[in-house]
Amino acid sequence: MSKSENKVASYAIIGFGNIGKALAKAFARNGIDVSVATTHNPESFASDAAAIGPEITPATLAEAVKANVIFLAVRFESHPDVAKALPTWQGKTIVDVTNAYGVSPEELGGQPSSKFVAQAFTGGKLVKGFNHLVAAILDQDPAVHGGRRVVFLASDDDGAAAEIGALAENLGFSPIKLGGLSEGGLLVQAHGNTWGKLIFQDLIKFD
Ligand SMILES: NC(=O)c1ccc[n+]([C@@H]2O[C@H](COP(=O)([O-])OP(=O)(O)OC[C@H]3O[C@@H](n4cnc5c(N)ncnc54)[C@H](OP(=O)(O)O)[C@@H]3O)[C@@H](O)[C@H]2O)c1
Repeated sequence: MSKSENKVASYAIIGFGNIGKALAKAFARNGIDVSVATTHNPESFASDAAAIGPEITPATLAEAVKANVIFLAVRFESHPDVAKALPTWQGKTIVDVTNAYGVSPEELGGQPSSKFVAQAFTGGKLVKGFNHLVAAILDQDPAVHGGRRVVFLASDDDGAAAEIGALAENLGFSPIKLGGLSEGGLLVQAHGNTWGKLIFQDLIKFD
């Protein structure tokens, strides 16, 4: 194992809107520290972060991307701006929570949206996931009705999928790995106007 693989994971969430806050609550609920960043000065959202818990550290984008696991919780169209924050994403795992609503297959060059995002984060390992739960559900404790809410994960890097699978479990979810981005990523990708109704389901796994 290389030195970088051996280090303790550090986490950041880029975007502190509906989904960023829902993810931050999951970290706080489980006592896991995470940095959060937007385009604004961290002081401007410090009280929102403090309301979630002491685990949540407001940060600048430049500070937040020092983490080795980075949740991308911005609108799809904002991902290139986040990608510009580092010249290379080598050694980083990016969790792509975006849904490419209203983006045509032509604009994606016929690729799954997750592959399109992965190309922007040069050198990084991308895991598509956590994107099928609406913020109001992701927000809540995933332990419900004696089971755990499912999160779907897809990646072309098995190590990164395993790393985020373990994190998902630590956050209280039940991860289901769907394979690579071309197969699994495509399965959990936003499609047109009906996709949300089909996929935003109350999926729970019973052990
Ligand atoms: N809402 C849902 O139920 C849901 C469910 C599943 C997946 N998703 C996906 O999750 C993503 C986020 O959705 P949302 O509803 O949370 O959106 P949102 O409420 O509009 O939040 C977007 C966040 O991204 C930040 N942001 C924008 N550009 C940025 C940049 N260049 N650098 C850093 N931060 C930036 C915004 O902060 P400032 O503009 O203040 O800087 C804001 O905090 C979307 O891709 C969406 O499709 C949403």
